[in-house]
Amino acid sequence: MTICIEPDATALARVAAEQFTNLAGEAVNARGVFNVALSGGSTPKALFALLASEEEPFRARMPWTRTRFFWGDERHVPPDHPDSNYRMADEALLARIPVPADRVFRIPAENPDAAAAAAAYEQTLREAFHLQEGQRPRFDLVLLGLGPEGHTASLFPGSEAIAETVRWVVAPWVAKFNTYRITLTPPVLKHAAQVTFLASGGEKAEILRTVVEGEQRPEEFPAQSIRPTDGELTWLVDEAAARLLRRKE
Ligand code: 6PG
Repeated sequence: MTICIEPDATALARVAAEQFTNLAGEAVNARGVFNVALSGGSTPKALFALLASEEEPFRARMPWTRTRFFWGDERHVPPDHPDSNYRMADEALLARIPVPADRVFRIPAENPDAAAAAAAYEQTLREAFHLQEGQRPRFDLVLLGLGPEGHTASLFPGSEAIAETVRWVVAPWVAKFNTYRITLTPPVLKHAAQVTFLASGGEKAEILRTVVEGEQRPEEFPAQSIRPTDGELTWLVDEAAARLLRRKE
């Protein structure tokens, strides 16, 4: 596990954009495609804006037509809903870059049946990655955030999804928000070549220390369950979020 501590959220977004574009170039050189699972919430917005910006070097570096966008989770709302992770990414990035529509694999969260949406997305992954029986999707990069109570993607404390070992996408009921969510499960998230958590701000300091330096209790702190089995784990954080960390790598 690598912990990169940047001075502030702006510097954090830049380091994330450097990693994003580097991984994209490596993946496209190696396999002709870059498969990335985006996270939701607010932290990634600054990264997405940098990637899309015509004033920054990242946009020109990116092999956009060979990049395929997926999501680690989605709220159970239509894509034009203010809470939609897809909508956030579309507004901050996708609508501003030359990416073909058939390279954007949105979770169909408009389906009133969240479980059916999860099953449909699992099929989308199976087809998109041309998987044989027994194989799992392997993302080149999975971006994740850290919730204040230790959730990541839509794996919330106490969720059965944390211990899921077979299904790749599930639709847990999230009592905290009184709603269903659709989320990739640890077997897929952990199978990525690179898992990068983004955490910014003093309000994340306590939970970041607990998740990164505390004892392993993934049922209680689901972010701890995403430890790559055959890949790299990086925490990109800012000074404010890292305030309580003992080890300053
Ligand atoms: C979501 C995200 C969620 C998010 C964390 C952190 O759907 O909300 O996938 O896991 O990454 O809650 O959110 P912030 O970046 O807004 O702090």
